[in-house]
Amino acid sequence: MKRMFTLLAVVVASVLSIATLSARELNVVPEPAYVDLEAEGDYAVTNKTRIIVVDEMWAPAERFSEDMMATMGFEKPMHMSKHGNKGIKVRTDSCIASEGYEMTVSEEGVLIIGGDEAGVYYGLQTLRQILVTNNGCVPYGFVADEPSFRYRGAHLDVCRHFMSVDDVKEYIDILAAHKLNRLHWHLTDDQGWRIEIKAYPELTEKGSVRKETLIGHGLEPKWWDGKPHGGYYTQEQIRDVVKYAAERYVTIVPEIEMPGHAQAALHALPWLGCNEQEVDVWTMWGVTPEVLCAGKETTYTFLENVLKEVIELFPSELIHIGGDECPKDRWKECEHCQAMMKAQGLENEEALQGYLVTRIEKFLNAQGRRIIGWDEILEGGVTPSSTVMAWRGAKIGAYAAEHGHEVVMTPLPICYFDFYQTESREGEGLRIGGHINFEKIYSWDPFEGISESARKNIIGVQCNVWSEYLKDISMVEGQLLPRLAAMCEVQWAVDRRDESTIRRKMENLRKFYDACGWNYAPYYFDGRQ
Ligand code: ACM
Ligand code: ZN
Repeated sequence: MKRMFTLLAVVVASVLSIATLSARELNVVPEPAYVDLEAEGDYAVTNKTRIIVVDEMWAPAERFSEDMMATMGFEKPMHMSKHGNKGIKVRTDSCIASEGYEMTVSEEGVLIIGGDEAGVYYGLQTLRQILVTNNGCVPYGFVADEPSFRYRGAHLDVCRHFMSVDDVKEYIDILAAHKLNRLHWHLTDDQGWRIEIKAYPELTEKGSVRKETLIGHGLEPKWWDGKPHGGYYTQEQIRDVVKYAAERYVTIVPEIEMPGHAQAALHALPWLGCNEQEVDVWTMWGVTPEVLCAGKETTYTFLENVLKEVIELFPSELIHIGGDECPKDRWKECEHCQAMMKAQGLENEEALQGYLVTRIEKFLNAQGRRIIGWDEILEGGVTPSSTVMAWRGAKIGAYAAEHGHEVVMTPLPICYFDFYQTESREGEGLRIGGHINFEKIYSWDPFEGISESARKNIIGVQCNVWSEYLKDISMVEGQLLPRLAAMCEVQWAVDRRDESTIRRKMENLRKFYDACGWNYAPYYFDGRQ
């Protein structure tokens, strides 16, 4: 049916003007599930248009009004009331899927019915994209839409380079506009501890600042910048960001890295390490041998105390416990680690990591939360109740899904948005490496190699923005956009991607990015891949 209307639109468009063409196609990213634009005519939305709020849908209506001021130049908030005839009417209907919506446009105005509050919000996001790129007009017709995946995430590393509260909020705005619903906030790592923990003030007092930053790929002294870099979020700021995200239907999944990627914590609290030696907050990138001691009870008490505060701040059911890239050199030489292995009957150091992860999983389960971790958590024999973030390859994600884990697919290189965007790398500036372009992301099949029965375990897809070479939010945005547009088509519209229309849609979306004032990379638009 949808194809028929698309065909009809193409035939009609070929005999009409360009202006009419753009008016008769929605050109929305991500692609809605069903679009019918058969009726002739457009409805114009202005600052005088009323929002008629049914079922107490005030919150998404207010977000829409704010967005219209920010992107359409509306001078004042839109008028909202419970009653009225013409305007933008919003309500819910539980017959519609969660996060889904239907939008009907006629002479009477726009009616958006969401499956829930988030669905109303996503309907309004679709409406906003159309209005911003179509001179404030939306064509008469009907749209029905719902997401492919329930976890639609983007990760942000604020450890390698700190991003302010306002920067993180802008990042959330961008995710929400692409209908993503998870921000994976990478808060602790070797190069900086970024979350205030009241039980251990040293973590941020000492662990949030490094002496200098590696600015090249080489290791000679001349490649460091010689400037201290730091920053952290107070608990009050974190509450503010969590609320801001929730108002945009984004759940923040906080990540506290363990037992590796913890050198900043070791600098602040040397007793967390095996040999208790002083180490710096790391000034390099990669994998350090300095990791948390998994043999001492004090490490477990520390982790539990940190997590107690984390779960007070973040309502997310999933709490990310890291788990990746933990060298075992220190553990092999540590009497505490070796004694713990003996006491627990653990065969090797990999099993010791499994012991730590499982123990933390039990702790979080008892608090009503569940763990998510990078795919190395599979190596220590965690139970299928843990969610696996598959990063080292889609095959590992397939393995985890076949073994009963819920899986978020975020494999290299497809989902690594810190990578270069063109093969030639010309004009891109220094980046971590690799190369992944828009088209490869857009055409990626996240179900490849996964049996029909295990597909249900793929709960979502995520892109990762590591910030080793991204010093500020503008650089982050340049890595994120427009590749996030390809990613959100996978996340929201996996079975309705269409190579023949995506470029036209992207030209339209570019206008939307300009209206929002977001930075984006030129390569896809220039045809440089
Ligand atoms: C990762 O990229 N180390 C998860
Ligand atoms: Zn140890």
